[in-house]
Amino acid sequence: MTDSTTEGLGARNRARLMLWAAMAAPGAVLVVLGLAHVKLPYTNLTGLLAGLFLALTLLVTPLQRIVGPLPWLKSRRRYLGVASFGYMVLHLAVWLAKANLQNVLQSFTRPEILLGWLAGAIMLPLAVTSFDGAVRALGRRWKALHRWVYPMAVLVLGHWLWAGDWKRTGIATAVIVIALELWRYSQFRGRATR
Ligand code: HEM
Repeated sequence: MTDSTTEGLGARNRARLMLWAAMAAPGAVLVVLGLAHVKLPYTNLTGLLAGLFLALTLLVTPLQRIVGPLPWLKSRRRYLGVASFGYMVLHLAVWLAKANLQNVLQSFTRPEILLGWLAGAIMLPLAVTSFDGAVRALGRRWKALHRWVYPMAVLVLGHWLWAGDWKRTGIATAVIVIALELWRYSQFRGRATR
């Protein structure tokens, strides 16, 4: 390997590490504050982070239609999805830490929480297949599997608006994502019929 190739790889790894560190930072701050017994709505905050990272994941493709190709962001879109999954796990852990077995069993009979469980169940196979090896191994089936992100996002929206306190943030996030997705779809249709 030449020096410039090694340098290029080093710079790429550093950029990747910085991205992971930036995505993990709010979670690390919440964990530290939680351990220091600072009173905050941790279930809501971790859910919010999971929801916002999911929205960012969905926004990458429409954003490229507006501002042109963003190869760096496009190749790291999967990381945003994994960050959303990570915050969902933290969200669940925070909630479970305060719940007892009866609360957990009852949560399956509460439709607003059941939507969260269903979204989480769909997220799991998407997250574990978000790494390069899985993308290569699944080939064309990878795309088909990852289209489940759309029904999952609908479940998350239902869960957010029904169970959450910050409904206006949920509505604003959904309006932005849905508007840009519809616009992307209309562009695609326009090109297909031309
Ligand atoms: C895995 C099962 C899940 C459980 C048991 C669960 C539980 C909860 C609970 C109890 C709340 C209400 C918090 C409160 O007001 O005290 C909540 C809110 C929320 N959850 Fe979940 N959740 C789950 C999955 C998810 C997933 C998959 C996402 C997103 C990817 C998510 C995102 C949110 C959001 C955005 C809120 C609302 C925050 C707010 O506006 O207050 N949850 N969740």
